[in-house]
Amino acid sequence: MYHPISPNVISELVNIAGQAYVLIDGENLEKYAHDETEDLRYQPEVVVKPGNAEEISAIMVLANQHNFPVTPMGARTGLSGGALPVYGGVALSMERFNKIVHIDERNLQVTTEPGVITEVLQNAVIEKGLFYPPDPASKGSCFIGGNVAENSGGPKAVKYGVVKDYVLNLEVVLPTGEIIWTGANVLKNATGYNLTQLFVGSEGTLGIITKIVLRLIPYPQKNLLMLVPFSNATKACEAVAAIFRAGITPSAMEFMERDAIDYVLQFNTDIQIAIKDHIKAHLLIEVDGNNQDVLMQDCETIAQIVEQFECDEILFAETEREKNDLWKMRRKVGEAVKQHSTYKEEDTVVPRAELPVLLEGVKAIGNKYGFQSVCYGHAGDGNLHVNILKGNLTNEEWETRLPQGITEIFQLVIKLGGTISGEHGIGWVQKKYMPLAFNEIQLNIFRNLRKIFDPNGILNPGKVVD
Ligand code: LAC
Ligand code: ZN
Repeated sequence: MYHPISPNVISELVNIAGQAYVLIDGENLEKYAHDETEDLRYQPEVVVKPGNAEEISAIMVLANQHNFPVTPMGARTGLSGGALPVYGGVALSMERFNKIVHIDERNLQVTTEPGVITEVLQNAVIEKGLFYPPDPASKGSCFIGGNVAENSGGPKAVKYGVVKDYVLNLEVVLPTGEIIWTGANVLKNATGYNLTQLFVGSEGTLGIITKIVLRLIPYPQKNLLMLVPFSNATKACEAVAAIFRAGITPSAMEFMERDAIDYVLQFNTDIQIAIKDHIKAHLLIEVDGNNQDVLMQDCETIAQIVEQFECDEILFAETEREKNDLWKMRRKVGEAVKQHSTYKEEDTVVPRAELPVLLEGVKAIGNKYGFQSVCYGHAGDGNLHVNILKGNLTNEEWETRLPQGITEIFQLVIKLGGTISGEHGIGWVQKKYMPLAFNEIQLNIFRNLRKIFDPNGILNPGKVVD
């Protein structure tokens, strides 16, 4: 299908990017063969680290001439395999695009390159009293470019929205090598089709993002954090929608099943949190703003509501240390589950009030196929991460039952008005389930769209749709 990368192509790549940034040694090919998706590995034939958009443009022209695939990648923290070079070719690492270009305090905007670590960007704007809210669990290591490519979310999305709600404009290198801006640096834009939002969440299949303009908001000065234990996980899920119905919009509303926390505590002995034996799930709830009294009132209202759902004693974080521990506990869940067992992570999302039905359905499907699942995630968004554990299943049982179980979970999600990924994307590993979410007419729109941008099919092939 694609041509192998020849020595001639390698020397062309060296001419474009420079000797130091074209790597073909085994160690680097292995390093760029994976992201954080399960234990999947696909080696590229060469790793290239371009230094600017013009170099990427030249690489794309070369790729079209010589018919080799190019897979853009950032910090490789993705969970759906969007950055796996599944057909070999060039692994195009964006790690040298690591500069924050300009923080525009007059307009509350930031222009950044894509290879900036999300938390670094957040801290840089906090210094100016500004806030870029989307905060994926991997914020300390993921790149902002990958966040845009995946339309990432995270805990704060429930109040502040996801990445798409902050992207104003993008500089993109098209698969055919042209460099374009997608929009304008404005808060309103009714000028033509919304190319900017087309690229957000396109998972590196329509173009390579080289600059990002984000809108910022004032940084909220205060927050309160509470951990609410429940003896019944379904009741915890029921409490979620009740809190929003009472007129409160928390800045985080996270759900964690008992097992999720147990695994974290097992692998992170520095976190000190005592959990009673009968507790089955927790909600981690944060409110933020600028008025302490209002936040206290919100917490009181929340406390009254959760009591109606049979919660146990609420823990209010008193110190920064306690807050950090609770957040660390939450952010470490994914990693801890991975350490515990071979697993498969699904990123289901349903309308918020359907969450209890989804949770019970996931457990029933698990019982049917004999697998344990650990559920956690952004309950306020109806976004439940379902980690299916291999546990004691044989390899054969795992391979046959897992796709059936996942299919049933996704069918339930869709029946409830939801869809199969809330924030992790489709990438490589969820692609086979796309026909559950879209019919052939819809999938053909995706395919045709892609052909407009990438007629030769060389940019991140194998991802999202075939
Ligand atoms: C989280 C990642 C896995 O919420 O999305 O922890
Ligand atoms: Zn998440």
